[in-house]
Amino acid sequence: MSEQKQNPADIAKHLRKPEGAQGLKIGEFMNKGNASMYAGVRKHLPELLGQRLLEIGFGNGVTSKEIMRQTQYTGLDYSADMVAAAESLCAAEVQQNGARFVHGDIHQMPFEAGSFDMVFTINTIYFWDDAPAAAAELKRVLKSGGQLFIGMRTKEDMDLLSAITQHGFILRPLLEVEALLREAGFTNLSYTVYPDPLRPDMQGRMVQLHTVVFSAVA
Ligand SMILES: C[S@@+](CC[C@H](N)C(=O)[O-])C[C@H]1O[C@@H](n2cnc3c(N)ncnc32)[C@H](O)[C@@H]1O
Repeated sequence: MSEQKQNPADIAKHLRKPEGAQGLKIGEFMNKGNASMYAGVRKHLPELLGQRLLEIGFGNGVTSKEIMRQTQYTGLDYSADMVAAAESLCAAEVQQNGARFVHGDIHQMPFEAGSFDMVFTINTIYFWDDAPAAAAELKRVLKSGGQLFIGMRTKEDMDLLSAITQHGFILRPLLEVEALLREAGFTNLSYTVYPDPLRPDMQGRMVQLHTVVFSAVA
């Protein structure tokens, strides 16, 4: 993204809600930049076959294609443009595997209680404006005993990227995330931190980021 010389506030806006032509480009950028985070979360997803799985905030959906082929996949995203992009880019998974993409907000999801065996979401927690409401919704849409996985960067990592993350990102320490999930009624809370490959930041400096994977049981 550094070579595109984009305004950091604009990039932050499209990371929160990718829209229009720039949102589509950001979607492609995220596929490359966040692939290691998807790989980190994937290590924690148990046997997927036949599971009713919900992903919240799928970007353009491309990074989740493999998961779509193995599950009853539903994606939820509040960017109508990302829903349209995923429907087009993942048309084979829609037709052959029954993947579906739904337009909606994590704070008020259009699903019945207990609709899913598993829910995962990667890089969306920074945009939960009402985190207790979002956590309560995650608990509600999971069946009792269902599993939640949250992929995120540490606050320290996001502080390294402050040129972008100072614009509207809500950065929560891991202990705060743990407390949030516990208060929503989740049990068996744990998290794992994986170092990511070194990468350049917007100024071209090499930075060491991490993938945090939270897991919890509804
Ligand atoms: C930073 S992108 C992450 C995309 C992908 N998960 C990744 O890690 O590459 C955030 C995605 O979550 C969606 N999103 C953000 N807040 C949301 C909310 N409140 N409800 C539903 N989707 C949301 C955005 O539209 C966008 O597609």
